Amino acid sequence: MEQSEQRIKIAVQKTGRLTDHSIDLLERCGLKVTKSKNQLICYGENMPIDLLLVRDDDIPGLVSDDVCDLGIVGLNVVEEKRLQLEQEGSNGRFKQIFELDFGHCRLSIAAPEDVDYVGPESLKNVKIATSYVGLLTDYLKRNRIAAEPIFFSGAVEIAPKLGRADFICDLVSSGETLLANGLREVAVLLESEAVVIQTLAPLSDEKQALVDKIIQRLDGVLKVRDSKYIMLHAPRSALAEIRALLPGSESPTVLPLEGSDDKIAVHAVCRENVFWETLENLKAAGASSLLVLPVEKMLA
Ligand code: PRP
Ligand code: ZN
Repeated sequence: MEQSEQRIKIAVQKTGRLTDHSIDLLERCGLKVTKSKNQLICYGENMPIDLLLVRDDDIPGLVSDDVCDLGIVGLNVVEEKRLQLEQEGSNGRFKQIFELDFGHCRLSIAAPEDVDYVGPESLKNVKIATSYVGLLTDYLKRNRIAAEPIFFSGAVEIAPKLGRADFICDLVSSGETLLANGLREVAVLLESEAVVIQTLAPLSDEKQALVDKIIQRLDGVLKVRDSKYIMLHAPRSALAEIRALLPGSESPTVLPLEGSDDKIAVHAVCRENVFWETLENLKAAGASSLLVLPVEKMLA
C-alpha cells in the first residue's frame, strides 16, 4: 500500500470563522503542521496526519466519500448536507462525534426592515433567498408554509434589494451583515456550532488506530476545556466546607503540610471555571495560598 494512503486526512475550513479555532484545537492535540493557508494541504510534521484546507460546504462530502477521515465543520453545513443526501435517497457515510463550542451562529430568516412580520404565516407565498435550500424547505414543511426558496450561492443578503426575493434565510453570527443590509432577524431555524465528523467508511487497522488516537486526544482536550486545577492550604477542620465550595470537582487530593499538624493542602480539578467569588468564599472558609491553574490535557 502507498505510504500516503496510511496518512490520516482531516478536512478543515480554508478561510472563515472556523479556520483558526480548528487548527488551534488540532495543535492542542499534539499535531504540528506547516502553516500556509494558501495551500490545499498542510502536512503534519510530527504525526502522519494532514489537513485539507477546503470550503466548509465541501467538508461533509469529503468525509462521506472517504477522501478525508475526519472533518471540522459547522453543524449548519452538516445538517444541510444530510437533508440534501436524504432527498437524493442516500445516507451520508459520516457520523458526528464532538460538539466544539466554537463557531456559534444560527440559521435565521431575516426580513427587510420595512416589511411586516407577525409570525411564520407572514411567509406565505413569499420568495426566500438562501444557500440552505434543504434546511429552509424542511422548516417550511414542518410549519406548513407554502413559500418559495430561491437558491443563492453567496451574497444572499442583497437578494431583497435586487428584487429577487422578499426575505432571506442565512447564517447570523454578530448580526452585522443583516444590519449593514437593512435586514432584521425574524425566525431562528437552527442553532449551530462547529462539530467533528468522522467517516463511516472502513479503515485499515493502522489508520483506524491513528484515528482512534486523535479522537482520544480530542476528547482529552475538550473534556478539560473549562476545567481548572485549584490548590490551597486550609485548616483540617475546614475541609468539609471547602469541599462543598469547590465547583464541579470530584474527590480532591488532601495532603498533610510539613511541620503543621492541623493544616492540609487541597488539590482538585474543577470541571468548570473558578470565579473570584468562589476564591473569596474559600478564603472566608479558612483557605489560604490559593492557586488556580488552567488544565491543558487529560487522559483518563
Ligand atoms: C455568513 C453569512 C453572512 C455572515 C453573517 O457567512 O452568509 O455573510 O456569515 O455573520 P455576521 O452576523 O457576523 O455578520 P460565512 O462567513 O459563514 O461564509 P459562508 O457561509 O460563505 O461559508
Ligand atoms: Zn460556506
